[in-house]
Amino acid sequence: MYLDVKAITKSYRDNTVLDSLDFSVGKGELVSLLGPSGCGKTTLLRMIAGLVSADSGAIRLAEREVTALPAHKRNVSVVFQNYALFPHLNVRENVGFGLAARGMAKADQKVPVEEALALVRMEHYADRPISALSGGQQQRVAVARALVVAPDLLLLDEPFSALDRKLRETMQVELKALLRSRGITAVFVTHDQEEALAVSDRIAVMNAGRIEQYGGPMELYSKPATSFVLDFVGMSMRMAGMVKAVEGPLLQIATAYGDITAPGNFIAGSKVTVGIRPELVSPGLPDSASDRTNRLTVPLSDVMCLGAKTLIYGTASGDDRLICEEQGASAASLPPIGSPVTFNWAVNDTLVYPAEAVP
Ligand SMILES: Nc1ncnc2c1ncn2[C@@H]1O[C@H](COP(=O)(O)OP(=O)(O)O)[C@@H](O)[C@H]1O
Ligand SMILES: [Mg+2]
Repeated sequence: MYLDVKAITKSYRDNTVLDSLDFSVGKGELVSLLGPSGCGKTTLLRMIAGLVSADSGAIRLAEREVTALPAHKRNVSVVFQNYALFPHLNVRENVGFGLAARGMAKADQKVPVEEALALVRMEHYADRPISALSGGQQQRVAVARALVVAPDLLLLDEPFSALDRKLRETMQVELKALLRSRGITAVFVTHDQEEALAVSDRIAVMNAGRIEQYGGPMELYSKPATSFVLDFVGMSMRMAGMVKAVEGPLLQIATAYGDITAPGNFIAGSKVTVGIRPELVSPGLPDSASDRTNRLTVPLSDVMCLGAKTLIYGTASGDDRLICEEQGASAASLPPIGSPVTFNWAVNDTLVYPAEAVP
């Protein structure tokens, strides 16, 4: 692969931050590292940039072994969350900084700086002081500054998390289009699953210093490899359960709300977590007909209309979450809050994972 991170381990004292981690990115790919705060995303990104050393393992980039190379010899650019622009330099000088640092004469910087500013639609702001720019404009300048040196790899660490939601979405769309059109290889760090789904060709879901699953957005959503991925990417209905019986490829699982059937490979007596994507569940009155085999009836606890979709919640205990999603505002056929409602779904849409050991 274009970027190959092999068996990287990093500890701070007895805290193992990256645990023999493998990660690779193809040329021109836009990949996200997605995971909760503290899972090691920034450490991995900084290690690829050459800003943090690894205890063991190796990194190759663009056919070169870079493990021992300092940051300035890797031809990698980083965009940080806090922009990290130079406040005493104007826009043009900020973007030209990396070229100047590489010894390019001021006169030769003009064309590449203007090209880079045009990429982020900031060409009319070249002479402005940084302090006169909004947050979104500052982050565009930071992207231009990162791209002007034609890096082999662009690294972005939560670049849009300081921006408000609307602007963040605009920036995501712009960045994706820009990187696509230029064929730039990039690794994008985020803790926001919607952002990762929006921008990425592939997503590496990280948890506690390890990659739990690495795949395309659709694959992560429809085939989450672990219950962590099920929870972290998209919404899900989830319940604790116990395998009562095994009948060939099918499991009979007891939950707090009744028995269900699911495909899976477990032995009787196993404690499991059951997950179903909410749009695969449909709500109904307890006596209504359904072609779905799994049916659980619980008191309706809440109905949330979100415009294009409606979320319907059932009363659940412990960490369980009973939820289904309907298109539009089609909650008309629901009983009043507190009355029994039935959640219906297909056996084959049921995901089963080992229950997490309680630490
Ligand atoms: N320089 C450091 N010294 C000690 N611990 C650190 C250092 N940098 C990061 N850590 C620890 O490593 C873990 C992962 O941090 P980080 O990579 O910043 O996570 P993320 O970016 O996913 O939020 C955290 O537990 C953090 O406290
Ligand atoms: Mg971080």
